[in-house]
Amino acid sequence: MIEKVQVMLTAKFACFFFFLALILFGSFGVTNADCQWNQTNVVCTEKTSEDPLKKIPAPKTLDTIIVHNAKIDLTDDLFNNDQKLSSVSLLDLSGNKIQRIGRRGFDKTQNVEFLYLSNNSIKQSQPDPFMSLGRLKRLEMNNALGGDFEENEALLRNLFHSNNDFADLSEIQLNSNRIKSLHPKTFCGVKGLTRLELSQNNLENLDFARRCFKDLKGLFMAANNISTIPQDIWDFMPSLSSFDISNNPIHCDCAIVELLKADDVSFINQGNTFCASPPELKGKNVFELPNDFCKSSKSSKGYSFFNFLILALIAAAILYLYRNYRQRMSSYYSKTVVGYQNIEPNVQPEFV
Ligand SMILES: *[C@@H]1O[C@H](CO)[C@@H](O)[C@H](O)[C@H]1NC(C)=O
Ligand SMILES: *[C@@H]1O[C@H](CO)[C@@H](O)[C@H](O)[C@H]1NC(C)=O
Ligand SMILES: *[C@@H]1O[C@H](CO)[C@@H](O)[C@H](O)[C@H]1NC(C)=O
Repeated sequence: MIEKVQVMLTAKFACFFFFLALILFGSFGVTNADCQWNQTNVVCTEKTSEDPLKKIPAPKTLDTIIVHNAKIDLTDDLFNNDQKLSSVSLLDLSGNKIQRIGRRGFDKTQNVEFLYLSNNSIKQSQPDPFMSLGRLKRLEMNNALGGDFEENEALLRNLFHSNNDFADLSEIQLNSNRIKSLHPKTFCGVKGLTRLELSQNNLENLDFARRCFKDLKGLFMAANNISTIPQDIWDFMPSLSSFDISNNPIHCDCAIVELLKADDVSFINQGNTFCASPPELKGKNVFELPNDFCKSSKSSKGYSFFNFLILALIAAAILYLYRNYRQRMSSYYSKTVVGYQNIEPNVQPEFV
């Protein structure tokens, strides 16, 4: 219908209708059932069929791509044409049914700075999928993984074990992924990392490789299954300034309470940071433990050490005195014996 009308119109009228269409569609120039796009943005947010981007031409000036509610295979090209889309800086593919990712899915958009892959079900990754994303600044993968515990651990290790050194990747979000364990070196390849979010997972420890978190400023580990914090955490995360350890089953011993008093770190969500053990402290807020909690346990420790020291001193003194006494006794004996033997020759002439 529209085509028929357009064929009948003169060039002037076509022009008029084009501008009318621009006004009608707001800022977007063109639309089809799945997506709307203009020279810089493409947005596909309605429930779409598979790979909606393949049905549209990709303007070379594109800088923002947003696709939700579609089925996308990221081991394949996003668009049908072969040209590089070097202006794309934001690629939001959250809320799709992505199960696989690979290098090819990101090949044409190598300058992406913001990559959003949350709310997907990624189970498989080809080796080094983010290799070409040298300018990546922020990666959001909340509720993005669909594998079991072991698959997720392996997949994450694979994502950042890369030829890309991620020098600009300062923020990684991996909340709500049922991550139970991480390879200790998972994030060692991310040179720019300053903020790491791992809240709402099943992590049981902070077993990270030392020397990999020199510049980390924010660590978000709320709602995991962590009971203790490594004693040397402030040594291997010297730049840490924000730390969320709330909603974890903290074992409140003196060591951890001392750690949580670090005054150059601000603890987020203090109101939700409770002891789970020992039984007498269960349910107590870690940050509201009495001031003398550590002092009393420390001074009693100090007291017993003092006791030990006194005992050791007394024992040493007794040993010293006893040795001294024995030495004197034995030297007295030997003196008399020697004296007797020494005297004998002198005495003998007198007998002669
Ligand atoms: C394209 O659409 C976006 C989103 O609505 C708008 O912000 C932008 O100004 C549009 N660009 C052009 C060149 O029309
Ligand atoms: C992911 O899904 C949750 C729950 O449906 C929603 O609240 C959140 O806004 C979604 N996030 C993104 C980035 O799509
Ligand atoms: C939390 O960790 C403990 C061991 O520290 C384990 O026994 C328990 O099953 C874990 N809970 C969950 C929900 O994974």
